[in-house]
Amino acid sequence: MTHPETTLISAGRPVTPGSPLNHPVSAASNYLPGGDLWYARAHGTETVAAFESVIGTLERGEAVAFSSGMAAVSAVLDLVPIGATVVRGRDLYHGVATLLAVGEANGRWKVRTAGEMADWFDEPADLLWVESPSNPLLEVLDLQAICENRPRDAVVAVDSTFATPIGQTPLGAGADFVVHSATKFIGGHSDLVAGVVVANAAGHVEHLRTRRELAGGSLGSLEAFLALRGLRTLGVRLERSASSAGELAQRLQGHGSVKRVWYPGLESHPTHHIAASQLRTMGAVLSFGVGDDALADRICDSFGLVVNATSLGGVETTAERRSGYPGSGHLPPGLIRMSVGLEAVDDLWFDLEAAISR
Ligand SMILES: Cc1ncc(COP(=O)(O)O)c(C=O)c1O
Repeated sequence: MTHPETTLISAGRPVTPGSPLNHPVSAASNYLPGGDLWYARAHGTETVAAFESVIGTLERGEAVAFSSGMAAVSAVLDLVPIGATVVRGRDLYHGVATLLAVGEANGRWKVRTAGEMADWFDEPADLLWVESPSNPLLEVLDLQAICENRPRDAVVAVDSTFATPIGQTPLGAGADFVVHSATKFIGGHSDLVAGVVVANAAGHVEHLRTRRELAGGSLGSLEAFLALRGLRTLGVRLERSASSAGELAQRLQGHGSVKRVWYPGLESHPTHHIAASQLRTMGAVLSFGVGDDALADRICDSFGLVVNATSLGGVETTAERRSGYPGSGHLPPGLIRMSVGLEAVDDLWFDLEAAISR
């Protein structure tokens, strides 16, 4: 097995003599009988298959692509029977937190929140929904410990969006499903929406494919092409972004107007010790608190280079106030989450400093 940075480049390419080096965009909904592909909603296209093959190789399982990260999340959640118990972490992407809350209100499942490590195991459960590192507090959960100590019959799903497929491989730690919003670092250019789930057990893979076919959250060929093109440069992008994120986290920590910084690479982060042994990269996302929502809004409005926008994982640095979103009651007021892109770190610091000091 090559290093993940090499697999990103070499996997998922056509092999027939005379083929292009990259699978083109397959503009197809329908196929002649006799091959693996038949109908694009159900089985995808050659371009979708190429994207799935790279993600599957990196994560060491079978990848099934979806039209968004949330479609991928929903496909996994659909696995649990009505009335099942889902355990989630305290800090969680607000879209998934809302989806879980709505499902609970509708009687679809019961949700338990694990504040401490023991809370993941101490009662029966059907699905453990583990987001690590979490959005937006970058909490890193010990995947091996959770998988090994899981309640009997519980399935473990890990949302690994912030780690990316080169930061960690949760299936190797014993997880049943790995989920990515490919909209973020995998795509990397803020120009597509996509999701992917990887699993190993034949029954789980079958479940995902059936959900995609019946619910119809299938990935289009153009998005698959762009996601695969983005994936090719994930290694260098992440190396540069993580290095800048580490530098900015240090500088922010020393700034008099910043109350606290959350970045797993900082020793002051409560889960730094787990991050140090579990993650191959500390990632490109950090959060910092300025203590007050109005002040955080003024800072975000004052950015010149940093883009005040909601998504993350692109080549451009984005930042947004996260306190105030539904399900974010646990966040301190004035929390700003920043996704560090590829700009020169000194230019980013100049912009940040100016916006904070203004
Ligand atoms: C950790 C995490 N998981 C899932 C999602 C949902 O992904 P998408 O927006 O591609 O549906 C997001 C989106 O921000 C996210 O941050």
